[in-house]
Amino acid sequence: EKELSDVILAEREAARLGGGLKRIEAQHARGKLTARERLDLLLDPGSFREFDQFVVHQCVDFGMDKNKITGDGVVTGYGTINGRLVYVFSQDFTVYGGSLSKMHAQKICKVMDKAMLVGAPVIGLNDSGGARIQEGVDSLGGYADIFQRNVMASGVIPQISLIMGPCAGGAVYSPALTDFTLMVRDSSYLFVTGPEVVKAVTNETVTQEELGGAKAHTTKSGVAHLAFDNDVEALNRLREFVDFLPLSNREEPPVRKTEDSAAREDPVLDEIVPVDPTKAYDMKYVVERIVDDGHFYEINPDFAKNIIIGFARMNGKTVGVVGNQPLVSSGVLDINSSVKAARFVRFLDAFNIPILTFVDVPGFLPGTAQEHNGIIRHGAKLLYAYAEATVPKITVITRKAYGGAYDVMASKHLRGDSNYAWPAAEIAVMGAKGAVEIIFRGLDTEGRRKAELDYIRTFANPLPAAQRGFIDDVIEPRTTRKRIIEDLEQLKHKKLTNPAKKHGNIPL
Ligand code: COA
Repeated sequence: EKELSDVILAEREAARLGGGLKRIEAQHARGKLTARERLDLLLDPGSFREFDQFVVHQCVDFGMDKNKITGDGVVTGYGTINGRLVYVFSQDFTVYGGSLSKMHAQKICKVMDKAMLVGAPVIGLNDSGGARIQEGVDSLGGYADIFQRNVMASGVIPQISLIMGPCAGGAVYSPALTDFTLMVRDSSYLFVTGPEVVKAVTNETVTQEELGGAKAHTTKSGVAHLAFDNDVEALNRLREFVDFLPLSNREEPPVRKTEDSAAREDPVLDEIVPVDPTKAYDMKYVVERIVDDGHFYEINPDFAKNIIIGFARMNGKTVGVVGNQPLVSSGVLDINSSVKAARFVRFLDAFNIPILTFVDVPGFLPGTAQEHNGIIRHGAKLLYAYAEATVPKITVITRKAYGGAYDVMASKHLRGDSNYAWPAAEIAVMGAKGAVEIIFRGLDTEGRRKAELDYIRTFANPLPAAQRGFIDDVIEPRTTRKRIIEDLEQLKHKKLTNPAKKHGNIPL
């Protein structure tokens, strides 16, 4: 008769081995780490505390009662990243393909519940063949239990999904509900239905990678926010990412001391906006010159590149940055860029992160493709997100702010706290050429030219907006960093509350 302590030790050992050495080798052969190796890299050394190591599935169908693997295909618990608490689950592909059983789901739900209780992020490392087929509806119920928690946790604790293998069918909706979805190139994919079903239903031939790989989702669908080359890079960059975030909506983001002076002026910024208004410049470069140590952690860098979003720090404190990108389609707002920025602005607002907006926008993109696909509905999302946000909002118009897009981009009218213009700013209903064509119809070439010059003198400068108090000041570009940091300090205790309601009805 074995001692109980021996049995427990043996069970622990079994849990550590997951699906066994052969399957671990297969996992490695695919360039993938195991569930536990991933947690070792994600968390501070020695900080991981595991829950539910002894859990086994309760299924008796299809001979499953004789086939139990301790831990049931997911490693769960908590640990720290740079000393800060996070809850984690890491699916183990070596155990029934990481498929989700009732008990596997229950383990995930337990960490989500704990995270909500104490207020700390949940990070899910996904690597799963989907619903455990042998368990049928029990497994589907397990997914829904997770979805419900994802929704309740939304806006309360940061939720991050890193996709490190398959994630298909119903399984995709948990990552979709979380705040950020990250992927590993060539070894992960996300789709509602796989290539075989696609072939059967639509007769399209497509590979897994083309259909739902990292490239598809970071460039075409916008479903994933970032892609990394391999597991190690993904986990390292995820650690860096988490460092920008507060543990919950009850807390402030961590402060990371910097040597970069709060009073630093940057003469390069004075020369950055080209004199010719049709010439482009890189807004990302502008942002990098302003934030601490030039460190801008861009999100969605390959999707809707006409707008840039990401995290940075100002005098050590996290800020969210949104900027029109003149380098891509003149920084025009379209469906994808509106949706991309809107979701980000809502994340920032939910988690008390101040919003810096850099504006150089010629307006909304015209055309049937945009109109018929609902630019009105989608553009409204960004407007809504900015209007409802109560965190400090600082806006710098670096050049163009035309038409409705002027209003949308965190204008004074949407409760912007500090609204600045650089001297080159043009704030008007539209550009000179278009305006003159409409209001001075029928002028000859010379007359049009004169009218355009007149229009430019009247409108294509920051004064009309400044005279109305729509911008608070015209600032020298070189002083932008200093001014923003002063304002963030001034706005530190900003308190603004929206009317009580069950919830708003953002245009979806
Ligand atoms: N339920 C139960 N077991 C599953 C499973 C699932 N959904 N998905 C995979 N597995 C098991 C496999 O039976 C296999 O077990 P074994 O190691 O004992 O042989 C193991 O996981 C690995 O799967 P395998 O198919 O060999 O790996 P692969 O890398 O070739 O393919 C998938 C991975 C995910 C593409 C493939 O397993 C698959 O299509 N699974 C089903 C996906 C699905 O339709 N899920 C339900 C919809 S949500």
